Amino acid sequence: MDASVLLALRDPAGIPFYPVVFQGLYILTWALHAAFVLLSLGAMGLSLYGTLRQKSDPHWQVLTPHLIQTGKISVSLLIVLGVAPLLFTQVIYDPNWYTANTLSGMWVFIFIYALVVGYTLYYWYYYANRSKRGGGRLIGIVSFAILVFAGVLMHNFAVTSIMPTEWMNMYAPNGVVDHSGWTFNMDLIRLFFMVSLSIPVVGIFLQNYSRFVSTRSDFDREFVEYTAALGTKLATVGLLLSATAFIGWMAQIGYLTHPVIVVTIAGVLGLLYMARQNRNSYITTGVLVLVALLVSGVRELIRYDIMTDLGYNIYDYPVNFEIPSITMFVLTFLIMGGVGVAYLLTLAWKVGKNKGVFDGSKDAAVTKLGNYTIAIMVVWMAVYFGWGMSILFKNIL
Ligand code: HEM
Repeated sequence: MDASVLLALRDPAGIPFYPVVFQGLYILTWALHAAFVLLSLGAMGLSLYGTLRQKSDPHWQVLTPHLIQTGKISVSLLIVLGVAPLLFTQVIYDPNWYTANTLSGMWVFIFIYALVVGYTLYYWYYYANRSKRGGGRLIGIVSFAILVFAGVLMHNFAVTSIMPTEWMNMYAPNGVVDHSGWTFNMDLIRLFFMVSLSIPVVGIFLQNYSRFVSTRSDFDREFVEYTAALGTKLATVGLLLSATAFIGWMAQIGYLTHPVIVVTIAGVLGLLYMARQNRNSYITTGVLVLVALLVSGVRELIRYDIMTDLGYNIYDYPVNFEIPSITMFVLTFLIMGGVGVAYLLTLAWKVGKNKGVFDGSKDAAVTKLGNYTIAIMVVWMAVYFGWGMSILFKNIL
């Protein structure tokens, strides 16, 4: 393929900062997106099993609604956190992202509606299960299937975007232009690996859950041990499955001996050891985060290699510095994001640790963080709109 085609598809305005920064942010934010994709699919899938046991088993009577709730919140987080890698990928890999979205245009529309319908049905499942033990199973299965389908579509966009040498054949098979937007590509082993990770993720989540509720007097010892053992079993089986799929995927594309892959496999094995021991699941989660970053890095490595081989190197992307907007982004990310997330996490932690109703207004740390968050948001809005308006008026008046 002629590199000039790919280079012509880049944004002529260039990018506002060093490409490596966008690449790093892409790796970081995709790992966050993936974390909640995997937790939502894992928690929801396990909750469906829970609906079968919920009527007769007291452990599942407690666990099932908690899993449904975890999956429900995770879907909203995966959507929010999916936007960030989307923005970063279309900054440095715009030829890839926009071509894939054009070739698979119909699937892009379907993706949005699938997400809306799938998530709405999830709420139906949640309310049906709340009103009746074991309830909502069928609707839960439909919702789960639609959300997995949304993931398959996401996979199609990712895979199509890294097949530039095939784009012309997809656009005009046998020389006849195909405007349909129905292009669909799958790499089964890659997809299987991605989705299989939801099993160890929900396993380690259960270990954390068990550790977290172990300090609460209203959760009995037997339940705490049951959830920890279930978590260990799921994490072990899931990690073995994912590691096998990962090795298969890497062997298929000839990357098995690449240093990043060797480190990733070592990370997964380390995770397997820690999950089996289950000494401190919070530390295991820290290692899981590192492995997620490595997996995200592997995806980027594959794309980077494909594109540089074709003569498209993101590090050569023309840079047109835009310091004010970068400063605004970094400050928003670190200060507003940092304080806001700290507030929400502190609140969630304290609510969970507290028996009965937790009154945040009586807690000094929660109140302080809440007030800071509101104040920072007010200042942020004033700066954002004030700055935007002044630039707008300066340009048009
Ligand atoms: C239930 C809904 C979703 C699921 C199950 C899901 C799952 C996935 C999976 C499995 C991948 C990796 C595909 C691969 O590398 O083969 C992926 C990538 C990605 N997802 Fe999602 N996703 C969902 C929704 C979203 C949403 C709503 C957004 C954006 C707002 C989003 C943004 C992204 C981006 C930007 C990528 C990377 C694409 C690339 O590198 O080319 N996802 N998603």
